Amino acid sequence: MMAEMDEHPSRWETPTDAVSISVIGCGYLGAVHAAAMAALGHDVVGLDVDAAKIAELAAGQAPFFEPGLTEILAEGARTGQLRFTTDLGSVAAAQVHFICVGTPQRRGENSADLRHVDAAFHQLLPQLKPGDVVVGKSTVPVGTAERLAELLRSVEPTATLVWNPEFLREGHAVKDTLSPDRLVYGVPEGPAGERAVTVLNRVYAKAVANGVPVVVTDYATAQLVKVAANSFLATKISFINAMAELCEVTGGDVVQLADAIGYDARIGRRFLNAGLGFGGGCLPKDIRAFMARAGELGVDQALTFLREVDAINLRRRVRMVDLAREVCEGSIVGRRIAVLGAAFKPDSDDVRDSPALSVAAQMTLQGAEVVVTDPEAIANASAKWPDLVFAETVDEAVQDAELVLLLTEWPEYVALDPHELRTRVARPRMLDGRNALDAARWRAAGWTYRALGRR
Ligand code: UDX
Repeated sequence: MMAEMDEHPSRWETPTDAVSISVIGCGYLGAVHAAAMAALGHDVVGLDVDAAKIAELAAGQAPFFEPGLTEILAEGARTGQLRFTTDLGSVAAAQVHFICVGTPQRRGENSADLRHVDAAFHQLLPQLKPGDVVVGKSTVPVGTAERLAELLRSVEPTATLVWNPEFLREGHAVKDTLSPDRLVYGVPEGPAGERAVTVLNRVYAKAVANGVPVVVTDYATAQLVKVAANSFLATKISFINAMAELCEVTGGDVVQLADAIGYDARIGRRFLNAGLGFGGGCLPKDIRAFMARAGELGVDQALTFLREVDAINLRRRVRMVDLAREVCEGSIVGRRIAVLGAAFKPDSDDVRDSPALSVAAQMTLQGAEVVVTDPEAIANASAKWPDLVFAETVDEAVQDAELVLLLTEWPEYVALDPHELRTRVARPRMLDGRNALDAARWRAAGWTYRALGRR
């Protein structure tokens, strides 16, 4: 295997040099990854089958809302280090190929749909050259990397597969990619794996120089790290939301409870915000795919708790609608209700599995006259939920409302002036689905203020 390394020494001999990179799949992960790699000084070509998306990216425009992305796209276009194409042949010049395609939940099932990963891999194989490094970043069921490595070996035995999961959060994706908390490399044993580590350390040279921890491990661990991290985060959120359920029946206050337990450094206060729970394109589908995979592996009992995590999370949405009904004296039929927030979280225009839209849709189905607003996500939300009514501004949304629900804690919503807002609504009643508002301030301004898990 050492011979393999010596066969292609010139391509990797100067450790500080720019690396020639291809990024296959330019969705959320891929577009950010490609732009960030160019920002680090590498030569990058991003590839996607969606010509419209590629045209936007090539013009330096982000196809979705992500702070800081437009700037690094423009910078990459200016320096010429970042190109986007639909032409698969363009990846042939690259030495390191990142697979960044999506792994959505299969329709009607819990498991992950690997169609895009398999397609990307099969398209890449004929383009590979001796010594190339293929890097999987997509979130996949454990066992996928082993299968793909076998396939790679049969086509290009001198190429190496690394599994290098991403942990980026929407809204912080650029920062998370440029300065990650940690880097995880799942590599094969032996010289091929050692060489792949050297290559990835070169790709991430800046982070490595800054002391970012690098965990070098096997394929199985690398794939599991990602789903374990997301499962832990989902569990933490559902844990505090379960405590909210207890607070609701005992008169306790979940925010104070979270503060109090969060002071224990072993527990920590982050990701202990009780409210409407988690949504988005990752946590819900990842915990379900993890349970499905555990079932296939014969260890479904190990992850039975994740079923509860999922159930607690979904119950919060139902509770929110119940609370709206309670505050509206038992019926929401025909009531004008304003919903602030459509994105699954602030600083994102992503509405995948958005708790806010789920609540808005349930209330609409139950006969309420719901108007939804959001600073960034209305276009995506109306495309996905065409039957919902949307307003461009908070003022329009709350006009004559008998109830206002804060469901996504955008900073501009948290900063709303309760006195000013009161002049627009029909009834000053606020349900804070994210425990983001200052209850005393809203009550002092004459509002009926209610929140999940609080008196
Ligand atoms: C998540 C992981 O954080 C990231 O590491 C992984 O790579 C992808 O999945 P993301 O989906 O962008 O990232 O969102 P995140 O910030 O984790 O929030 C997920 C959901 O949890 C949001 O709906 C958010 O509103 C909710 N949440 C978060 C809470 O309800 N309470 C909290 O305390 C924190």
